[in-house]
Amino acid sequence: MNYPKLFEPLQVGELSLRNRIVMAPMTRSRATDDDRVTDLHRLYYQQRANAGLIVTEGVHPSADGKGYNRTPGIYSPQQVDDWRAVTEAVHGEGGLIACQLMHCGRVGHADNKAVGTEFLAPSAIAARAEIFTEGGMKPMPVPRAMTLKDIARVIDDYRKATENCMAAGFDGVELHAASGYLPAQFLASESNLRDDAYGGSIDNRLRFIREVLGVMIDVAGAGRVGLRISPGNPYNDHVDATPEDTYGALLDLAESLGLAWVHAIRMPSTGIDSLQLTRDHYRGVLIGSDSFDAQEADSCIANGDVDAVSFGRAYIANPDLAQRFAADAPLNKMDKKTIYAGTGAAGYTDYPAMDTGA
Ligand SMILES: Cc1cc2nc3c(=O)[nH]c(=O)nc-3n(C[C@H](O)[C@H](O)[C@H](O)COP(=O)(O)O)c2cc1C
Repeated sequence: MNYPKLFEPLQVGELSLRNRIVMAPMTRSRATDDDRVTDLHRLYYQQRANAGLIVTEGVHPSADGKGYNRTPGIYSPQQVDDWRAVTEAVHGEGGLIACQLMHCGRVGHADNKAVGTEFLAPSAIAARAEIFTEGGMKPMPVPRAMTLKDIARVIDDYRKATENCMAAGFDGVELHAASGYLPAQFLASESNLRDDAYGGSIDNRLRFIREVLGVMIDVAGAGRVGLRISPGNPYNDHVDATPEDTYGALLDLAESLGLAWVHAIRMPSTGIDSLQLTRDHYRGVLIGSDSFDAQEADSCIANGDVDAVSFGRAYIANPDLAQRFAADAPLNKMDKKTIYAGTGAAGYTDYPAMDTGA
């Protein structure tokens, strides 16, 4: 065995992972017009059930929470039924799967979501960035600043979405608090100019996430709830004056809530060591992400930098990634053109497994 640490089992809260290889959450834009997953998604995740844990693509907890086109939701009974087919297929292969709840807030474009839905954010400030639409790249809109009533309703949307995740058979839920989406918009000093209990001090800017995690834990139990972070990542105009302090406080919260895992994206260009920052504040399971190969993942687990590693792009192109790592076999190359391409199988479920000569 070339990478023995990667193949050690790991307890993550209530979840018993058979290896430390996690499939990273990846938006693939293949859902139907009514935000539903299909048989194609079922097959895609089933093919990748060799991971110790799959984290799904970002899934919106409400129609307002959608930002990108052809992304799935988990707010209607039909969506729950569709996702149940996915979780059953993964469980049938002995795998585990968590749903990533992703509310985009101000990130998105009206072309990408249903008529009558809104862009909600802590403050009425547009993200200075463009987003893909079927009509090309377009600037992001000015969102509506959430009232206290809106905040309570959106937190309740997360509660219902977590209930739906459990009803659909997911093993856990991951709150997407990275990359400039709604939770990160509340956290960051430049996108949150509120003067009420949800803005101002770091503790106030944390309140939204604290309450969202609270309802997720109410429903699923802390042992099934994870948190995704990318401190200092400027994606989607995510700008905070003191990211190390802000994310340090968020990680203290993760520790005090006893979250099952923190899934940290490393990004050396930010000047912040997000893996070390997580270790400094949080004693639970740390899943590291970004540009790992099997060798580096194995040695980072061996020396205690992380407990598990997630693989994104490698899983797009290699449905049998864990088997390939076990055999130290070469990896397929990812075709960039088909990452988000339409609803078809091309570049989604048609990457070949390795030839085992069987
Ligand atoms: C096509 C694509 C879609 C992604 N979508 C999401 C997403 O929905 N949620 C999320 O937290 N990260 C998302 N990411 C980031 C990945 O989870 C991961 O952090 C990133 O790809 C770096 O890991 P890698 O080097 O192993 O690919 C996405 C990445 C890619 C390539």
